[in-house]
Amino acid sequence: MASLEGAKVVVAGGAGGVGEGIVRSLLRQGARVLVPSRSEEKLRGLEEYCQGLPGELITMPGDLSGEETARDLQNRIYERFRELDVAVASLGGWWQGKPLTSVDMATWDRILRENLTSHFLALKMLVPLLHPKTGSYVHINGFSAEQAYPMAGPVAMAAAAQKSMVLTLAEELEPTGIHVYELILGPLQTRERLLRGPGQPDWYTPEEIGEQIVGLLTRRDDEVVHRLLSKREVWQVN
Ligand SMILES: NC(=O)c1ccc[n+]([C@@H]2O[C@H](COP(=O)([O-])OP(=O)(O)OC[C@H]3O[C@@H](n4cnc5c(N)ncnc54)[C@H](OP(=O)(O)O)[C@@H]3O)[C@@H](O)[C@H]2O)c1
Repeated sequence: MASLEGAKVVVAGGAGGVGEGIVRSLLRQGARVLVPSRSEEKLRGLEEYCQGLPGELITMPGDLSGEETARDLQNRIYERFRELDVAVASLGGWWQGKPLTSVDMATWDRILRENLTSHFLALKMLVPLLHPKTGSYVHINGFSAEQAYPMAGPVAMAAAAQKSMVLTLAEELEPTGIHVYELILGPLQTRERLLRGPGQPDWYTPEEIGEQIVGLLTRRDDEVVHRLLSKREVWQVN
């Protein structure tokens, strides 16, 4: 896709700290960006944050926690767009605090639901809507997918499982024209993070992640896994 002007895009998690920057970058390219969220308040905040940008922002209440609500969201996205050019999944949150042996079952279940099941349901609902010859699926992950992370074991385990999911998805979609990308990110200067004090100067901003995604989509890169850990590191490709 040489240009994203008028492209039909869904950003699942687009009302989150990383997702909102991705949404802004895509809007700057003139894309039509649909963002579902469980929170109407977050959707209103996103509309405010994106005011004045070109493109079209479409906000839609929606929940990827369970199959029924996810299917309902899929139907409403289909009614709006029919076919998608791009789907981005930037879902899940951070948790840390206890060693694995002390993690209670409620925390374990919640983290798996938010950081793994939501990703499974996002791909299950959004991939079938992608244009089978030219569509792209972009998965956002964190560096805990690839290293030990004491005191944040459940998040890191879910991230590692997401990586496995994306590699499998890419192989399964090989016979189609759909491209699959995973961005493995280091810490970011999200707006929420900046409220707690400055991050490191070499951390990426969410909009810079969005710009990298624009580059992947417009170049139609072949590689699946891309690492963007900090500006000090070169753009490494698996
Ligand atoms: N922040 C960082 O510094 C950083 C660094 C590296 C990687 N990452 C990666 O970036 C991605 C997003 O992180 P973030 O910092 O943007 O988190 P965030 O601000 O908490 O946003 C996460 C989004 O995930 C959605 N979500 C969570 N559970 C869900 C569920 N069960 N069903 C549907 N949606 C659900 C939320 O949707 P609602 O709008 O419905 O609440 C929210 O918009 C994650 O994959 C994370 O690993 C973040």
